Amino acid sequence: MKIYTMKIRLIVLLVAFLMMVLACNQKNLEPAKEEVTEIDNVVKEDVTKSNVSVADLRTPEANYGEFCGSCHGAKMDAFVDRRWKYGNSSEALAKAIKFGYENDGMPAYDVTFSEQEINELVQYIQKGIANVDLYKFDGEQGDGIFETEELIIKLDTIVSGMNQPWGMTFLANDEMLITEKSGTLFKRLSDGSLNEIKGIPEVKAIGQGGLMDLEIHPNFEKNGWIYVAYTKPNPENAEEVTTAVVRGKLSGNNFVESEEIFVALPYSTKKYHFGVRMEFDHEAYLFLSIGDRGSRDVNPQNLDNHCGKIHRINDDGSIPEDNPFVNTAGAMPSIFTYGNRNPQGLALNPADGSIWQNEHGPRGGDEINIVKKGLNYGWPTISYGINYNGTVFTELTENEDMEQPVMYWLPSIGVCGMTFVDSDKYGNWQNNVMSGSLRFMYLERAVVVNDEIIHREKILENIGRLRVVEVGPNGYIYVGVEEPGYIFKLIPQAKF
Ligand code: HEC
Repeated sequence: MKIYTMKIRLIVLLVAFLMMVLACNQKNLEPAKEEVTEIDNVVKEDVTKSNVSVADLRTPEANYGEFCGSCHGAKMDAFVDRRWKYGNSSEALAKAIKFGYENDGMPAYDVTFSEQEINELVQYIQKGIANVDLYKFDGEQGDGIFETEELIIKLDTIVSGMNQPWGMTFLANDEMLITEKSGTLFKRLSDGSLNEIKGIPEVKAIGQGGLMDLEIHPNFEKNGWIYVAYTKPNPENAEEVTTAVVRGKLSGNNFVESEEIFVALPYSTKKYHFGVRMEFDHEAYLFLSIGDRGSRDVNPQNLDNHCGKIHRINDDGSIPEDNPFVNTAGAMPSIFTYGNRNPQGLALNPADGSIWQNEHGPRGGDEINIVKKGLNYGWPTISYGINYNGTVFTELTENEDMEQPVMYWLPSIGVCGMTFVDSDKYGNWQNNVMSGSLRFMYLERAVVVNDEIIHREKILENIGRLRVVEVGPNGYIYVGVEEPGYIFKLIPQAKF
């Protein structure tokens, strides 16, 4: 049986190879764009997908895993208990799959699947929903003890009972501020209780948007400024939203002296790729990331808008004089880098004060980059990913005018949250960079030497959809996971 499968694989490989040779020849004669796309499709598909054979791919289960799991959960957990937006009849499901919902970020699969494959997927999902209990995440991470290469990590539960904690930052006396995506800002007191902070602006929690990242000013003890990023409705058109940042101060349980310091333009009806992470560098410049807002071919490569960019502003929202595009006609002066897709992590590297980011690719091609003044990170002209529906949007992975990532993930892990370990609490982990995975529910530890990643380790496997990771002023790492929402503190123990 094994030998038989191997033979089939060999034949498939051989045929693919012959097709590529043929296609190459053809390309020489007549360099039609479609041919080039076709070749790269084969190559990119090959690296993007797991080791399933072509025949396996046609089952609804494999199609689901291959095309849907990245957003809807590998075990259909996101379909569990969902409040259906568009109805749960077979027709409604089939329509969603076939035509997508562009404004929500649900891709269309009419070019990918036959009617029969779509119907099989519908049945597969309906069957999955009927068996939801099999897929339910019970919120328990076993005994909360994880063995890693160098340490034993024990989880200390800091917050439970939230749904989607998105951002967190640390105040004095073991107190924390935490955002819940649906729109509430909480202060966690040292006894573990959560107080709601009133007085933040109206948050529009839709799609991937809501109440998002927060930071305190590097000089917070003196000036009290807190920075909050959120999804803001357009005052002139309630259908449209964007990402905005306000700063304000705490007075008891109220957010006061609120001033808007950044609004990403243009507003859009699309409900995804908002970004947004914020980070101060050593000179108190505020860096913040804005996603491409689903306008891949319009926003990231044009400097006349804020989307698909990393911005650098002063702590009051004004523009630093030496920003790279302040003298470029028509450019948004806050832009620091462009050609970014949807950055979900931003972190200060304590070794040299540089700012690092991670960002979501499409299907394949999540990246880690170092944020360098004025540079173009290539989205969507170059990418290690392909469209969600399996088609190719660029044949290029490199271009001499565009930056290569420090590293990229194939397949995409749904990278989210980022921090450097700037304490000695975890031994050799000091100066390692940590990135979370929403999709595969773990934390990735990466060892950085000379701006290169030389070793990686998956830790905290199955902890939950990992949204945020930060190091507190006490030197401990904290992670936030969602649905159900928890914040855990990582307590290291020597291994032997
Ligand atoms: C890029 C992320 C992404 C991928 C990939 C994706 N979806 Fe979706 N899908 C969404 C979003 C966002 C929505 C909008 C509803 C929501 O917000 O949950 C949605 C909605 C749906 C709906 C309608 C749900 C409702 O509430 O009425 C169905 C059915 C669906 N998707 C099935 C699929 C299937 C099947 C696949 C794979 C062939 C797939 N999706 C791939 C993001 C995705």
